[in-house]
Amino acid sequence: MGFFKLTIRDVPIDHKTVLVRADYNVPLNKKGDISDDLRIKASLPTLQYLLDHHCKIVIISHLGRPEGRDKSRSLAPVAARLQKLIGTPVTFVEDCIGDVALQGVKQAPAGSIVLLENLRFYEEEEANDDVFAAKLAQASGARYFVQDGFGVVHRAHASTDAITNHIPSVAGLLIEREYQTITGAMEHPARPLVAVLGGAKISDKITVIEKLVKVADKIIVGGAMANTFLAYRGCEMGLSKCETGQEGVLDAVYDAARKKVGDAVDDFIILPTDVAVAKELSNSARRRVVAVDSIASDDISLDIGDASIQRMADEVADAKTVIWNGTMGIAEYAAFSHGSARLALALATQPQTTSIVGGGDTADFVLKWDGHEGASFSHISTGGGASLELMSGKKLPGIESLLNARK
Ligand code: 3PG
Repeated sequence: MGFFKLTIRDVPIDHKTVLVRADYNVPLNKKGDISDDLRIKASLPTLQYLLDHHCKIVIISHLGRPEGRDKSRSLAPVAARLQKLIGTPVTFVEDCIGDVALQGVKQAPAGSIVLLENLRFYEEEEANDDVFAAKLAQASGARYFVQDGFGVVHRAHASTDAITNHIPSVAGLLIEREYQTITGAMEHPARPLVAVLGGAKISDKITVIEKLVKVADKIIVGGAMANTFLAYRGCEMGLSKCETGQEGVLDAVYDAARKKVGDAVDDFIILPTDVAVAKELSNSARRRVVAVDSIASDDISLDIGDASIQRMADEVADAKTVIWNGTMGIAEYAAFSHGSARLALALATQPQTTSIVGGGDTADFVLKWDGHEGASFSHISTGGGASLELMSGKKLPGIESLLNARK
């Protein structure tokens, strides 16, 4: 199925200057080094395509949520890492608009890459300011705007929305791949489709949960999210992290699930039957597995238990498509990463199953777990909020604003 927006393949882009919006909002460690370059690597196919077509490439991105100019949120380290990964010189320019940007782009030779400084050093970026967008267009001198920052297309910002008023705007290859893969899995998946949901909060994912109740064949719930489900179903959760005030939301989820599967609801929304608990969360804490009806008042549930892991693995073994969003426990701690690790193993050893992994923490976990840079999975999404919004069927402003493909 073709993509509904024009892409870089559809326009005469050879030898042009192009403005590329990437999402280089990468995690930095305490020393300010890039701790995960998934998003930089994911931008390479588009950049390589443009280099192969002799374009001058001007890249814009945000990093973090700075308030004004903030050196600790400079994109300079990203320029260095990008240059290393792509093997072509990348010139870093210390502003994204005005004379500094204009001169930086002008001086860069044809067929080279320029990365401009963090867009969010200007509040006009998040305000979707049209004058700021015009300044970006002007500084870049670009003939085409290429949206390739999948992680940020759920935002209507100057570099995702207003910019398209000023330059003919098309999608990059990452946007096309993320969109096609995620909507493909939601709209016409190979079945059974099993969704595995974890992470901390129901409230962040409620529209996705509602959508998955409609489209998935099974929904497995783990992580702290399962604590809230279990508490709703009457379990005493001790000192486990539970989200309060979600009863109405869960009433609606279970009503919809009962309408779909009747009495088989507990075989459709699959909750843990046992959990791994400890008295505190620390590196020395021992993993102890208890049934969900035997959680002590001072226990903290930190992972799904062994029987639940087995059940989850059995369900996933039968699946043809698995959508995984949210870790099954506190996966940064080895003792509480068993559920997530077992799920990663199940997917990695089932190459015939389409596996779509999304959400920042989940992507981080599988990349660390996988010795093959994520190649053991069909798709690791670079988008957190964007992938959730796309899964729930919402329109993403940064994609909607691009030129439509001819039908
Ligand atoms: C992300 O990391 O989810 C994107 O880069 C968007 O960042 P934001 O949530 O700060 O807008």
